[in-house]
Amino acid sequence: MDQYAVVGNPIAHSKSPRIHAYFAQQTEQNLMYSTLLGDLAEFENQVRDFFEKGGKGLNITVPFKERAYAMCDILSQRAKQAGAVNTLMMGKNGDLFGDNTDGVGMVRDIIHNHGQNLKDKSVLILGAGGAVRGVLEPVLAENPESVTIANRTVEKAQALADQFDCLASSFEALDGPFDIIINGTSASMTGSLPPLKDTLVSDCTWCYDMMYGKDRTVFLQWAHERGADGADGLGMLVGQAAEAFYLWRQIRPETASLVEEMRKQM
Ligand code: ATR
Repeated sequence: MDQYAVVGNPIAHSKSPRIHAYFAQQTEQNLMYSTLLGDLAEFENQVRDFFEKGGKGLNITVPFKERAYAMCDILSQRAKQAGAVNTLMMGKNGDLFGDNTDGVGMVRDIIHNHGQNLKDKSVLILGAGGAVRGVLEPVLAENPESVTIANRTVEKAQALADQFDCLASSFEALDGPFDIIINGTSASMTGSLPPLKDTLVSDCTWCYDMMYGKDRTVFLQWAHERGADGADGLGMLVGQAAEAFYLWRQIRPETASLVEEMRKQM
């Protein structure tokens, strides 16, 4: 049976095996998907070993996405732009191919599961770390009217804006309202928010949080209190998995029903 796995550290609580098992059943594909605890010293050897033993594909998660990127012989355009890889597969001639499906997974979730459009919209992205770098190319590919990156450390926002040809700002200097706001800061993990002005949202603004949780995230609560609707990043998690599955199996699973089921069990 074809073997797949996700490598990270920690990895025990990864939802990926369950997600891929669901996709395999839905699309009637015969495969095994397991977890592999990444070793901080041995990661590259673990990856090589997996493929040498005939493994078909790996997902890569924290903290190995940049190391996976550095190992690849061939990179997709979006992986090059992201500077990080979350999906690996082996080419027929033994070349290691790396892709990054995080951004396209998020964008497809926003468009197909939430019915939002990015085309011609003013988009504000909060944060300028790895998570944001990973989604910029697929967001820009939707031809928004503008993309503004706001970050606590403005220099980091400016560096990304220079690379991706968009705008940078501090939180204080932002002038809204925006059509779409995407939160990619890790602040929400500690239940905090960047200093966001009320004027960033109108009741037409739609908000997306790359984070997700059982309860509404602090960012979505902030938006809700100002009349703006939105969604959290559970669909992004499932969406990036669906795109990896598509890369490996050439069949794209449907994601909405799984998101709904996972939500009920949170
Ligand atoms: P990730 O890989 O999750 O993107 P990261 O690369 O460490 O993690 O980036 C974290 C992002 O969240 C950064 O944009 C960071 O802002 P700085 O660049 O100024 O550090 C942002 N962030 C984290 N905690 C924050 C907070 N309390 N308020 C505002 N921004 C925060």
